[in-house]
Amino acid sequence: MIPDITQQSSGASPSWRLSPYRAPREYYPTPPEATRAFLAAERFDGPIWEPACGQGAIAKECEAAGYEVVATDLADYGYGEAGRDFLKLERPLAKHIVTNPPYGAGLADRFIRQALAMTARTGGKVAMLLNLASLCDPCRHHSYMARPPARIYALDDCVCYPNGDPGLAGPYTRRHRYCWMVWDTLSVKQTPKVTTTFHWLSTAPYATRGDA
Ligand SMILES: C[S@@+](CC[C@H](N)C(=O)[O-])C[C@H]1O[C@@H](n2cnc3c(N)ncnc32)[C@H](O)[C@@H]1O
Repeated sequence: MIPDITQQSSGASPSWRLSPYRAPREYYPTPPEATRAFLAAERFDGPIWEPACGQGAIAKECEAAGYEVVATDLADYGYGEAGRDFLKLERPLAKHIVTNPPYGAGLADRFIRQALAMTARTGGKVAMLLNLASLCDPCRHHSYMARPPARIYALDDCVCYPNGDPGLAGPYTRRHRYCWMVWDTLSVKQTPKVTTTFHWLSTAPYATRGDA
């Protein structure tokens, strides 16, 4: 069963975690080059909402690329607006949604459903950084068939470390492979016609000394 994390802690206490093997608050920040490579391939025609912004790893890159960004998170990392539970918000805060969501206990699936519901109202796109292996799962087969992403971008080199600290990463974390999945907003009639396209992205050209 998925825990109701907002019941556990108002604003998500620093100690909240799904299990002793997971980072507190599911905090696995995105390396900047993973977002830069993605933004070089995918354009957005309006403001972006980062609804699980952490310390702003994705939001800052979106801003650097020229986008207007609304950044919120359940927890307080000193960046964006804290105390906003994305799964409980009723109104979209920007046209497009771009994030690396919390993964554990089905949270990423709930984030995808909520983001698609939000962008159905704004006409925007949803982009999520996800575990590539999550594509191949009997529990998700029907949801992907019913609402396929329009584009998948596999990243050649990307590790999201617990708390951003390589020293805390076990072999399981290092084995993860990541991809960006993008859903366009479509009418119900269009949905069965979506043909997913697959792309490859290299992060190395977007890494700078000190953040690779
Ligand atoms: C994998 S981290 C990614 C952080 C940031 N998106 C990035 O890419 O660096 C997941 C984030 O989700 C946040 N989070 C967890 N549950 C949430 C919820 N229900 N609503 C909003 N944010 C949530 C955590 O506090 C954490 O910052």
